[in-house]
This record gives sequence, structure tokens and C-alpha cells, in this order.
Amino acid sequence: MIELSGVTKVFNPGRAGEVTAVAAADLTVAAGEFVSLIGPSGCGKSTLLRLIADLVPPSSGTVTVAGKPAARARRDRDYGMVFQKAGLFDWRTVRRNVELPLELRGTGRSERHARAAEMLELVGLSEFASHYPAQLSGGMQQRVSIARALADAPPLLLMDEPFGALDEMTRERLQGELLRICAATGTTVVFVTHSIDEAVFLSGRVAVMSARPGRITDVIDVDLGERTEAVRQAPEYFGYVTAVRQALRGPAAAVPEQAGPAESAPAVRAEK
Ligand SMILES: Nc1ncnc2c1ncn2[C@@H]1O[C@H](COP(=O)(O)OP(=O)(O)O)[C@@H](O)[C@H]1O
Ligand SMILES: [Mg+2]
Repeated sequence: MIELSGVTKVFNPGRAGEVTAVAAADLTVAAGEFVSLIGPSGCGKSTLLRLIADLVPPSSGTVTVAGKPAARARRDRDYGMVFQKAGLFDWRTVRRNVELPLELRGTGRSERHARAAEMLELVGLSEFASHYPAQLSGGMQQRVSIARALADAPPLLLMDEPFGALDEMTRERLQGELLRICAATGTTVVFVTHSIDEAVFLSGRVAVMSARPGRITDVIDVDLGERTEAVRQAPEYFGYVTAVRQALRGPAAAVPEQAGPAESAPAVRAEK
């Protein structure tokens, strides 16, 4: 479904603000996989997702999506996107928000209605079809956003910290729902998060990125079988959480920090 080969993204090349956001990333994602990208803030997770979505062009390397160049996949609407903010249109009802991708495709009225109803059923919001976004909770709005992204049945879903703004309880419920929806639709997912728990619970594989320049340093296979709520308490689950945490710290973390409190304490005071 996705093939990244030697993908590098340099913003503002040759200028004062030059930033290598993604460095030589290689990643292959098969159809039906759920892969998370995890890494510290600013390491290039969103940029990597935007490269897949062809929202930014790579500086070098190639991005193939659904067997075609990323630009072609974007024109063919081969993916749906979900961001941290639901980004719904306030003046459109829930149903008409979900219908939007179908309208853009020129799908006829009755088919749009039927498909929106099906998607709202899938995310458990059938009764709210005629509500406006402002009448829904944050978690419900995010479910509408997922329904909208899936409305025209894209084979790929790209999600950038979609549950980042939600409370822990809502977040866990939506994680379970997302897995159920993906299993029902066979959708491939690339999911950006900075939560280790979330990455382990959701993913078949976790790609770990290092801070500047953003490299994929490890890809960890997570073999936890069916993700029931009980999995969150399983010893194997904690084993994977530890493995991802260690990968995030990187090989340098094994060496004790030599820069002692003398250097770090003033910095902490300076922030106050
Ligand atoms: N459009 C842009 N122009 C210049 N720099 C950018 C742009 N987008 C992202 N960056 C920089 O690239 C780096 C990675 O950003 P981003 O991909 O948003 O990180 P993350 O999502 O992991 O927090 C950061 O240093 C950020 O400032
Ligand atoms: Mg980001």
C-alpha cells in the first residue's frame, strides 16, 4: 500500500531556517496493516505523513501509494485523512459533513445518503445525523471525522494524532472502535502518535523515529493478537511498551548522562 524509499525532506534548503525534517526514510506498509509512527515532538512524524499524502513533495527519494506515485494517489483520492482537530464544517449537519468526500466525487444524492448512513452507523452516531458539530462532544466530533475520511471507502487512512486532544477514557474507547472499523473495512492505517501505550495497543508494527533529523530508527513488530480491553493489562503488552520506550531513548540512552545537575538546574530555573 505504501513504499517509502530513501525519503528525505529538507525545509528551506540553503536558507537560514534550513531543517531536515525527515532523513532517508525507508518504510513499506502492506495492505491491511496498522502501522504507527512514534517519536518526540518535532521529529518529523507529521511531515512523513504529509509526504505520504503528497501534501509536501520529498527533497529526495520516492513515495509510492497504492502502487502509484503519491501525487497520482492523491488525485485518485486513495486515502482519507484525520487530524487532531476534527475540522468539521460548523454549518453542515453531521450527515452532510460525512457526505462531503462523496459530493466532491460527484456521487448521486441517494447513494450519498445511504453511504453516510452506513458510516454513521459504523461510528455509532446514527442518531446524530441531523445535529450540527457544535452540538457534539469532542470524541463524537472525532468519530464524525473518521466517518468522513472513510465515506468514499479509501484503501488507506492517514491519521495524525487523531485522539491527542481527547480525555483518556474517550481515547481508549475510540482506539477500540477504530480497530473494529478497520477490521470491518479492511482499511490500511498509518497512525501518528506520541503515546507509547496508544502505538502498542493499536499497531501491528510501530516505526520509531529519532529527534532531528527525523529518521526511522527501529520498526517493532507487535504480536498481541486480537486487541480486547484485557490486552491493556497483559504482561506481553507491557513488554512491548518497554521495548518501544527503549527504542525511543535510542542506543545513547544506555550510556549514563554525563551532563549533571550543574548544567540542567539553571535551565529549569530559567524557564520559571
Ligand atoms: N512547512 C514547514 N516549513 C518549515 N519547517 C517545517 C515545516 N513543517 C515542519 N517543519 C519543521 O520540521 C520539523 C518536523 O516537524 P513535524 O513533522 O511537524 O514534527 P512532529 O509532527 O513529529 O511534531 C520541525 O522542526 C518543524 O519545525
Ligand atoms: Mg505533528
